[in-house]
Amino acid sequence: MPDPASLRLSVAPMMDWTDSHCRVFHRLLAPHARLYSEMVHANAVIHGDRERLLAMDPVEHPVALQLGGSEPALLAQAARIGAEWGFDEINLNCGCPSDRVQAGRFGACLMREPALVADSVAAMVAACAGLERPVPVTVKCRLGVDDDHDYDRFRAFIDTVAAAGCGIFVVHARNAWLQGLSPKENREVPPLRYDWAYRLKRERPDLRVLVNGGIADADEATAHLAHTDGAMLGRAAYHTPYLLHRLDVAWFAGPPFNGVLKSRGELLRALRPYVEAQLERGVYLKHITRHLLGLFAGERGGRAFRQVLSEGAHKPGADWSLVERALALTESFAGPERQRA
Ligand SMILES: Cc1cc2nc3c(=O)[nH]c(=O)nc-3n(C[C@H](O)[C@H](O)[C@H](O)COP(=O)(O)O)c2cc1C
Repeated sequence: MPDPASLRLSVAPMMDWTDSHCRVFHRLLAPHARLYSEMVHANAVIHGDRERLLAMDPVEHPVALQLGGSEPALLAQAARIGAEWGFDEINLNCGCPSDRVQAGRFGACLMREPALVADSVAAMVAACAGLERPVPVTVKCRLGVDDDHDYDRFRAFIDTVAAAGCGIFVVHARNAWLQGLSPKENREVPPLRYDWAYRLKRERPDLRVLVNGGIADADEATAHLAHTDGAMLGRAAYHTPYLLHRLDVAWFAGPPFNGVLKSRGELLRALRPYVEAQLERGVYLKHITRHLLGLFAGERGGRAFRQVLSEGAHKPGADWSLVERALALTESFAGPERQRA
């Protein structure tokens, strides 16, 4: 079981968003956060281009690989591969509602198949046993699907899966509606019920329960810590990444920030060696800068920062100087940003 403090803050797995470049950026902002990959199907891990799907930068740790799938043997094989590639946790997706996922009978549909999830978790745990370092198998789930409104059924799902060897649950605290809603709507329309996650933690204190869904700011995130082991942020972390920095500084005393917020500019400049190394390898600047656009969200110059990066990063030869140009626009509105968290 990981150190409980390491579960307090995490950034949600998000397809097309939380790739390795994004995670490196988030790591600079929040050295104590737990980071998650995009979901990767077990078959892709086994048969696909692993270098593209699983490669990570060493600074990303602790980082979890999220797997999709519902065949225990395949999930076990993929989990072992993920652990061998250096991931610190293997997470099983039991929350994604997309049609593609439903056709493949995984993601949120699995909320209705606790025995299959338990078999999968047991096989993944066995596959990750005997490694030099422990790699826990965790589950990210919903409260239920469609019109399941029975807390006992939700808790029975958790109990069944926990008995198979999962001690950490990320609860996206709403149902998934499998008919008629797009994945985007499924992150907004079904009502949030944080109290189910809180109750689960009260009734199963030995489990680690992380709450996810709709957490918009630092006060909300902090309030969840009174009831659960951690808060997982998705869209707010991506669109306003400085929030991650605020939370890291506020929640974790000691180095590297010692309770003092760094300015956005300082944090971003720390990314320069990474960006230059990636450009050297042939990566386009736009593939990194697309994750940076929200850094100055709500700040003076934030819109110009975003515009300069979006308009310039795809041009041939775009390099770090573009980022400096964008930063200069924010710095022209000088003002001391440094303050205590
Ligand atoms: C663009 C996008 C992609 C997502 N992809 C995944 C995914 O691959 N796996 C997963 O478990 N959840 C995925 N999610 C859901 C998030 O992990 C999270 O549960 C959801 O956004 C609610 O948290 P939030 O309100 O903090 O964003 C995705 C969300 C977004 C916005």
